[in-house]
Amino acid sequence: MRRYKVAILGATGMVGQHYIKMLKDHPWFKISGLTGKESVGKKYVEAVRGEAPPPPPDIADMEVLPNDPKHVDADFVFSCLPTEPARESEPLFAQAGFPVFSDASAYRMEPDIPLIVPEINPDHLGLIEVQRKNRGWDGYIVTTPNCTTVGLVLPLHPLWKALGLNRVVVTTMQAVSGAGYPGVASLSILGNVIPYISGEEHKVETETRKILGRLENGAIRYDKTYVLATCTRVPTLDGHMESILAETGRPATAEEVVNLLEEYVSLPQELNLPTAPRRPILVRREPDRPQTRIDVDAGSIQGMAVSVGRIRVDGNNVRMISLSHNLIRGAAGGTILTAELAAYQGLLD
Ligand SMILES: NC(=O)c1ccc[n+]([C@@H]2O[C@H](COP(=O)([O-])OP(=O)(O)OC[C@H]3O[C@@H](n4cnc5c(N)ncnc54)[C@H](OP(=O)(O)O)[C@@H]3O)[C@@H](O)[C@H]2O)c1
Repeated sequence: MRRYKVAILGATGMVGQHYIKMLKDHPWFKISGLTGKESVGKKYVEAVRGEAPPPPPDIADMEVLPNDPKHVDADFVFSCLPTEPARESEPLFAQAGFPVFSDASAYRMEPDIPLIVPEINPDHLGLIEVQRKNRGWDGYIVTTPNCTTVGLVLPLHPLWKALGLNRVVVTTMQAVSGAGYPGVASLSILGNVIPYISGEEHKVETETRKILGRLENGAIRYDKTYVLATCTRVPTLDGHMESILAETGRPATAEEVVNLLEEYVSLPQELNLPTAPRRPILVRREPDRPQTRIDVDAGSIQGMAVSVGRIRVDGNNVRMISLSHNLIRGAAGGTILTAELAAYQGLLD
């Protein structure tokens, strides 16, 4: 595989910092540019937000560039811009010929823009061709889901395939880093639970159905599973926990469900992509796991596996708790894995 130059748009934020960390020794991708807004012209090390570990020396001294395709020298870009700047500038990068791999929500639900979890719907990358034709772009936009959707849809996928799914009810307990930096005010979240995150429930419900959907005649036909979400913010730092009730199409046993989850591997594992965890789902059998502090970094690639425990099955009703790292599997890591899949398929050349 050749080495590709990649720029990170919105590089100083919470997700941007995880790209820097995960791409440090990446065998295929090398960081060639970092963009921002307030921090333009500063050295990255002086601009980075929050309590970030020191960036590698070659990155620390890089100057933060304006978020403009003319200033970027790269084969493709990762976008971790906030929604509105992403809405404005991702099409400009795609028009200028860049493949854009985005964590932002701006274009996730557009009919001709793929929303990818590499283990579940790699074939949806087929929409790129449709998108280029529709929009006349040399480049393209590929999106990855909301950090909460990932922790739901990954453990659902093996059940959906083997048992079918009628209805899913999920209640989330989401970490403060999910809101970016500086996020929720400490006086609002310390010692508290906030039972509302604006727009989040709709994203989880619709994104899940798009990801499980079928690509047919150049369009995604949404999966029919009925998804109901309640999203809450809790005072943990990283890691979204989710309490899931899945009503399956046929009855199962706990042993069958555990086996389906534990044995689940898919295309990224078969291709041995650099950021693919050996097992995307790790089943915890202890009665009190997964726990946020202990399990958030789970996986042979740190933070890339979803931990699932408290599996209880009663006929068609499967109850379980999932935990996933919102900044790694739910953002930078999931998007790097998506770009690796695209590189493997020759979509970066
Ligand atoms: N946090 C998560 O768990 C998570 C998970 C999945 C997806 N996401 C999505 O990923 C994106 C980034 O989230 P985050 O948590 O990293 O946010 P963040 O900590 O607030 O960082 C945002 C970054 O965007 C830059 N920025 C802001 N406005 C800009 C503009 N007009 N042009 C260029 N750069 C601009 C900022 O740069 P300056 O410092 O230079 O102003 C900063 O680097 C969001 O769309 C979010 O919804 C986040």
